[in-house]
Amino acid sequence: MSKIGVGLIGCGGISLQNHLPGLAMCSDVAVVALCDTDPQTLERARSQTGLQAVFTDYHELLKREDVQAVLVATPNVVHAELVCAAIKAGKHVFCEKPIAMNYAEARHMHQLAERANIRHMTAFTYRFVPAMRYMAHLIKQGAVGQPYHFRSCRLQDWGTRNIGWRQIKKLAGTGELGDMLSHRIDYSHLLIGGMTRLVANTKQFHEMRDGKPSDLEDWVTILADYSVGATGVLESTKVATGRGESAHSQDYVEVNGQEGSIVFQLEQPHQLQIAKKGEKSLKVCSLPRDFLTWPGSSRDPSAGDPLFSFRYDQSFEFIDAIRNQRPCTPSFYDGALAQGVMDAAIQSAAEGRWVEIGHLEQELREK
Ligand SMILES: NC(=O)c1ccc[n+]([C@@H]2O[C@H](COP(=O)([O-])OP(=O)(O)OC[C@H]3O[C@@H](n4cnc5c(N)ncnc54)[C@H](O)[C@@H]3O)[C@@H](O)[C@H]2O)c1
Repeated sequence: MSKIGVGLIGCGGISLQNHLPGLAMCSDVAVVALCDTDPQTLERARSQTGLQAVFTDYHELLKREDVQAVLVATPNVVHAELVCAAIKAGKHVFCEKPIAMNYAEARHMHQLAERANIRHMTAFTYRFVPAMRYMAHLIKQGAVGQPYHFRSCRLQDWGTRNIGWRQIKKLAGTGELGDMLSHRIDYSHLLIGGMTRLVANTKQFHEMRDGKPSDLEDWVTILADYSVGATGVLESTKVATGRGESAHSQDYVEVNGQEGSIVFQLEQPHQLQIAKKGEKSLKVCSLPRDFLTWPGSSRDPSAGDPLFSFRYDQSFEFIDAIRNQRPCTPSFYDGALAQGVMDAAIQSAAEGRWVEIGHLEQELREK
């Protein structure tokens, strides 16, 4: 089997922690080129990989014939430019979330990728948590019956520390909404389906973080109606004092339906809590072995920290889709749909009213 050559654009935190180790677990794949506009970051990635093909200008990376696929992991402001250039150069593209600065950009990226018939994937990483995949499977099988409620709560304590480009609107687009709630919007699409309307609010608590100005929200909440008749309540914050950070903090999702309820917590990535109609409380349910890794992934689910190792299955999904010429899950469709919801949330918060979004799914299906 010929190797698939991958180029990384953006060699910062997520590329080094997540994408390089994930790609290293994929068979018949070689990371062949790196690009970062920051020479120091590029040098760190070069010394970690031993690669010689390193560039500060992404055009140089895209010219290479040994690069068949590209991972874009830069600040959000340049995602659209980099992704569109990669698609035009005929590369398959994996892009970090949120895939764009707004819905119009995201929709254009999705259309361009579809028309070019390349593989396209959005890094909605938490779909790869084994318990989330099992929850989606159970709901699809009818375990909760008619869904009544989707509820998600993401509580972290980032205090007032400087979070770099993430606190600057012209680089990130949105704050907590794109950074954290975008994943939970995607959970809700996966578990319940599309929203018909929403009302949202945002709040910024810190105008300075470690002496550096911030112009983005620290908290966001959305109240939604779904086309299946369910309600949604989604909340996410960076300022839940004492709640910790990252995988050791609250990431809770609950779905209640006519026939039962299911609860997911990121801190327990290999189990769910389930109650069936007539029962008085939730019971812990361990996952079947088949759900501990993504279908086809050779990752050993007992190796490494289960709060982190699921992330590597994202790379498997991207490479496997390229190899088998099939759509990636989640794709730019999912990235653009979440972006449509994000735009509506910003509009709703600014105008203080409900915003209709029932047209988004149909609009994105139009080629
Ligand atoms: N899916 C997840 O769970 C997850 C987790 C963390 C970050 N992210 C996303 O990944 C992306 C990157 O986040 P990060 O934490 O790695 O940020 P980071 O700041 O650590 O790294 C970004 C890198 O991109 C480089 N860069 C900026 N502009 C560039 C350009 N035009 N060409 C090449 N390189 C460029 C920067 O120099 C920097 O090294 C963001 O979109 C973020 O939202 C996703």
